[in-house]
Amino acid sequence: MVTVRSLRTKAGTEPITMLTAYDAPTARIVDDAGIDIILVGDSVGNTSLGHESTLPVTVDEMQSRTAAVARATDDALVVADMPFLSFGVDDASSIENCGRMLKEANADAVKLESGPHTVELTERLVQLGIPVMAHLGLTPQRVKEVGYSRQGTDRDSAREIIDLAKAHAEAGAFSLVLEHVPANVATQVTEAIDIPTIGIGAGGDCDGQVLVIDDVIGMSDRVPPFAAQFGDVKSEMEKAVGAYRDAVESGEFPAEEHSHVEDELDELY
Ligand code: KIV
Ligand code: NA
Repeated sequence: MVTVRSLRTKAGTEPITMLTAYDAPTARIVDDAGIDIILVGDSVGNTSLGHESTLPVTVDEMQSRTAAVARATDDALVVADMPFLSFGVDDASSIENCGRMLKEANADAVKLESGPHTVELTERLVQLGIPVMAHLGLTPQRVKEVGYSRQGTDRDSAREIIDLAKAHAEAGAFSLVLEHVPANVATQVTEAIDIPTIGIGAGGDCDGQVLVIDDVIGMSDRVPPFAAQFGDVKSEMEKAVGAYRDAVESGEFPAEEHSHVEDELDELY
């Protein structure tokens, strides 16, 4: 069983593995593979719900997806990603929404896209017993402001990421995702804090790596330049769907073995 404490022990000795999942069968595969952390990412908006960004994803959608993943997961730590404007607007609604992921969906922790506005909130959530994973660098919920470009690319913005990383570690976050930042900035963040860093497009020096499962298995139309594809599930699905269509159209399916006849039901009229 992976816990927020066991992760800390693992960090620095062995790489931490993290992948997204958005449904029970996928979570079961990821969990059985021994992945440490399953992130129910708000990337579900792009991967599964047909949105152009993560902004439309709702708390109800995240709760439903997280519950499905948690039901199928025995060992991995399940982290629920908090969607756009579900946190940081005011304390009461932030705590209620984050709390729902533990109370109603059985998540082990929440992830917040972090910034200066989430330091106190992280501390408050941790005090209440809600473990928080922080997320700095490219934070896609701010796409309208920053696009999807690499972050921390000048000295000031790189220092800001390091400072915010320290502030969130001090506030009690148990881990930090670093997305799309220069590798040497990620190295310095990892050295500056004693909670595990998990990188995506952040080089090889983080304590762990995370990718979106659709990119990994080959289900995405567009794979970001920092991701890698390790399989081709989409072409397998295309083959299976095409074969089914052909079998129905040719009359090969259903065959006798797929059908059932009750003799006494012949000639009903
Ligand atoms: O939503 C997501 O999948 C994420 C990861 C890319 C870290 O936030
Ligand atoms: Na996310």
